[in-house]
Amino acid sequence: MNMKPAGAGKSSFDLLAGNKAFDLMAIKVGSSFLDLACGFGRYSLFAADLVGPSGQVHALDLWEEGILQLQQQAAQEQKANITALVGDIAGIPLSAASVDCALLATALHDVAQPQRAAVIRGVHRVLKPGAHFCVIEFKRRQDGPGPPLAIRLAPADVETLVLPAGFETVASESVGEALYLLKFRKKT
Ligand SMILES: C[S@@+](CC[C@H](N)C(=O)[O-])C[C@H]1O[C@@H](n2cnc3c(N)ncnc32)[C@H](O)[C@@H]1O
Repeated sequence: MNMKPAGAGKSSFDLLAGNKAFDLMAIKVGSSFLDLACGFGRYSLFAADLVGPSGQVHALDLWEEGILQLQQQAAQEQKANITALVGDIAGIPLSAASVDCALLATALHDVAQPQRAAVIRGVHRVLKPGAHFCVIEFKRRQDGPGPPLAIRLAPADVETLVLPAGFETVASESVGEALYLLKFRKKT
């Protein structure tokens, strides 16, 4: 069985306005970055240059074809600091308190509703104390690219899911015509 998960084959990377999203993520050289629901890894490939050879990018997605594509692209670009795995983001295969920054880009709306709380709890588990979790989602507008309005999440919807797991909001910004980014900090 090789079913295509919801949203597979799509990326929001090219909808970002300049470097604002990455400036907000403030990914540091030598750090550990987790790209949840990475698709074919556009964000991972960019982040790999920011963490540098001494850092690590962990990329996770249910979509096998996307992970294979990312593995091939990473090999071609000699980005040995990317580890791309097929898996469900509701069960992140990383040690507790091992990640400096986690990103969930335009995928939360695709995660089945009963799974969302488990995903957020898992992100909280793998982040180091004080580390950041960034969520990029489509603005709730009728026009432009993105999923149907009915399944789009407003910033308040995302906060309702994320804050109870032990996070605080540190930034809420537009990062493109169609996209916003919420940055959370894991409370210690
Ligand atoms: C719209 S794509 C975004 C991909 C990527 N973040 C980007 O923007 O370049 C949504 C991704 O979420 C993945 N996805 C949905 N539910 C998932 C889950 N429970 N575990 C892992 N990946 C999931 C899909 O396979 C798809 O690749």
